[in-house]
Amino acid sequence: MPSQVEKFFIVGSHGLKGEIKVSGAKNSALPVIAATLLTREPCVLENIPKLEDVNIMLSILKRLGSKVEFGQLLTIQNNRINDLIIPEELARKIRASNLFLGPLVARFQEGVVPLPGGCNIGNRPMDLHLKGLRLMGAEVEEKAGFIRARTKRLKGAEIHLDFPSVGATENLMMAATLAQGTTIIRNAAREPEIVDLQNFLNLMGAKVKGAGTDVIKITGVNRLKGVTHKIIPDRIEAGTHMVMAAATQSDIIISGVIPEHLEAVMAKLKEAGAFVTFGDDWVRVTGKSIIKPVDIKTMPYPGFPTDMQPQILALLTLAQGTSIISEGVFDNRFKHVEELRRMGADIRLESRIAVIKGVPKLTGASVIAHDLRAAAALVIAGLAAEGMTVLEGIKNLDRGYENLDLKYQLIGAQIKRVNGEEKY
Ligand code: UD1
Repeated sequence: MPSQVEKFFIVGSHGLKGEIKVSGAKNSALPVIAATLLTREPCVLENIPKLEDVNIMLSILKRLGSKVEFGQLLTIQNNRINDLIIPEELARKIRASNLFLGPLVARFQEGVVPLPGGCNIGNRPMDLHLKGLRLMGAEVEEKAGFIRARTKRLKGAEIHLDFPSVGATENLMMAATLAQGTTIIRNAAREPEIVDLQNFLNLMGAKVKGAGTDVIKITGVNRLKGVTHKIIPDRIEAGTHMVMAAATQSDIIISGVIPEHLEAVMAKLKEAGAFVTFGDDWVRVTGKSIIKPVDIKTMPYPGFPTDMQPQILALLTLAQGTSIISEGVFDNRFKHVEELRRMGADIRLESRIAVIKGVPKLTGASVIAHDLRAAAALVIAGLAAEGMTVLEGIKNLDRGYENLDLKYQLIGAQIKRVNGEEKY
């Protein structure tokens, strides 16, 4: 198991060549794991990535009384749930633990989750989740750091989200599957992971329509059953490899993907001068020596994903000209900027906007990853830089990337995981 003190030694590695296979989507796996609480029958999940965030969700389930087996497949059975309170020390480690609230209230008429705190990428409240649950007839109280939602039985409601929140859409969709009557979620998030959750719920016997559009309609049923479901590929992992290829002038095939989910990233990489082609389940990116500046605004899907902002920002530090990135989803997602500056990047921050003046080269340095996607950005910068980068805080990388170091070693990158005090 990766330890907290592990770090990466990364030596600039240009001209890599080969194929990288993408793992299952973290952001699909987490809500689907929460949704298994909606049935007492066993569920079998395929393509679940082996990640810290997944482990934490499973530890929470075990504390509630679930039977969990995680090998090649993940099997979960929730027929002996004996606790409806999500333990605080585990919940604090992962924001997606709030996704247990909808399923708990739907099946057991009650659920308790710790109040989410701030996190590394900005304030992340739950008001939209709670507003929706209240409209569905739940009594929601916030007390002593916990949110308790209770009801006799949830009932269908018309919910208009003020912002297309991914988590709120998922929580309310799950809650509505066992409610009495029909729920309509308007201004719903349209991310592919929401379509995956709809597919899983419908296999279980739910009646959900419209995921992938901004109106989702759920007709409640009395019970759901256990099923087998395969998680979609991780589009953010795929996008990270694509940007890495462009930044290191490499020629990489990223396989096992759904190219349609990668359109926004492909478009921006082409604008930046990379050569991009794709087939049924692969994308190929060939990086060029000249990187052109590009302006980007992150937005909910199908806009450019905020989860790809740090990585593409790392690429644009090497562009021939000035790029502007505007962060449209989170209020404090530029922690990687300070670290990239240590490597020679020229970036000016003005609130949610980064002005990136391209430099001819980055130079290896000691840097720290403060959050998951910042970690990916610093790996990319380290591979694109001249000399050696020492990256600390890789426990943040392991939350969302399965063996990224091993995957990159296989295509020839010089990246090595070491313990604490080890020298290169
Ligand atoms: C999910 C993803 C995360 C991604 C994010 C945006 C998972 C497990 N995580 O997070 O990787 O970065 O979508 O694509 O799928 N908001 C509110 N009130 C709420 C809920 C959200 O104001 O009740 C705000 C947030 O503060 C944030 C924005 O809405 O500024 C987007 O958040 P949301 O879409 O809910 O993100 P998550 O579901 O937490």
